Amino acid sequence: MLNGKRILLIISGGIAAYKSLDLIRRLKERGANVRCVLTAGGAQFVTPLSVAALSEEAVYQDLFSLKDESEMGHIRLSREADLLVIAPASADLMAKMAAGLADDLASTLLLATDKPVLFAPAMNTRMWEHPATQRNVRTLLDDGLTAIGPGQGDLACGEVGAGRMSEPLEIVAACENLLGGEMPLRGRRAIVTSGPTYEAIDPVRYLANRSSGKQGHAIAGALASLGAEVVLVAGPNNLADPGGVTVRDIESAAQMLAACEASLPADIAVCAAAVADWRVAGEAEQKMKKDGSGQPPALALVENPDILKTLSQLNGNRPSLVVGFAAETEKVVDHAKSKRQRKGCDWMVANDVGAGTGVMGGDENTVHLITAQGIEDWPTMAKDAVAAALAKRIADHFGSE
Ligand code: CTP
Repeated sequence: MLNGKRILLIISGGIAAYKSLDLIRRLKERGANVRCVLTAGGAQFVTPLSVAALSEEAVYQDLFSLKDESEMGHIRLSREADLLVIAPASADLMAKMAAGLADDLASTLLLATDKPVLFAPAMNTRMWEHPATQRNVRTLLDDGLTAIGPGQGDLACGEVGAGRMSEPLEIVAACENLLGGEMPLRGRRAIVTSGPTYEAIDPVRYLANRSSGKQGHAIAGALASLGAEVVLVAGPNNLADPGGVTVRDIESAAQMLAACEASLPADIAVCAAAVADWRVAGEAEQKMKKDGSGQPPALALVENPDILKTLSQLNGNRPSLVVGFAAETEKVVDHAKSKRQRKGCDWMVANDVGAGTGVMGGDENTVHLITAQGIEDWPTMAKDAVAAALAKRIADHFGSE
């Protein structure tokens, strides 16, 4: 898909720039021609020499270089590309783009181009979460640019959170999507549940679990990047909303079910949420107080509605593909197989969430995909990569219908 395509890669300042060297190789392996622009910040992290050696092209750095301008005017750089990719996209460059500034070669090119632009943000979590950055990202998306990432995880600054540049192969896949126009799920509607649910005990206390929502959010984003119209029904979480997805924030299992039902009809339902199995019978209207007897209050629990089972067993408007997740701590595949039968879903993604696996809240997942045809054991992958692989499998399923 990338064979013969011309990609202009803009490398701005950030430690993630080292991954851009690998990105150049990956793009070239697929037959793309890669021409690179290094910003002043980018050149602090990777050298023009390594970029030139890998891309086998001159590297462009200076807006006012007589040499660069005589050999290749900055307008021509954009004109002679099929796609512009900014990786890493620093907070500074995104702010410039959002404001329409053009004070160096990269920002001038980006203002002058009429080509599709893909940007892969990478920065410290707090910079990413700052309202100014979030505002700039929204502006860029409204302007028609496409974002990929950032992912979650350990950052070079020692913090943990959103801000890590997407992996080179994910960026390659996004380039293929943009250039190949491959949107195999265009026209399909999907509902994805994600995160924990909170079940109120009284106005200040609740029952919950350790789900972070990372896997569900990544699936919602991956389905959207293949063209699906996605509603993400999300329990409380600290994640950024995935791009191109409609998010419905809820707290309890009952609200999650209602939001899913309100989002029907759908072709696809992926229930990745860790729904609380029980809620407290008769939530107290006032904060519960100690009564001085030393006896803790007894909490009576009632079972919550099973959202996956409800969606799987709908009459009339059942999504044609319903996918569940089975969080197990032992006999993972056996339990997941019987869970698939019991709930009536089409596919079950089984994962081991036992103590020590680090899956709950972690960045990686080892899953087994259980379908009517059999069991596939997938290698351990980043949750983003599991999401991309699952979305691809879903697209193939609809493609072969
Ligand atoms: N699920 C759901 N609604 C519930 C409980 C679970 O939609 N009230 C979904 C989850 O989103 C997941 C699947 O069911 O896709 C399996 O969740 P899991 O917690 O593994 O299963 P349980 O139903 O809790 O079964 P068990 O008690 O046997 O672990």
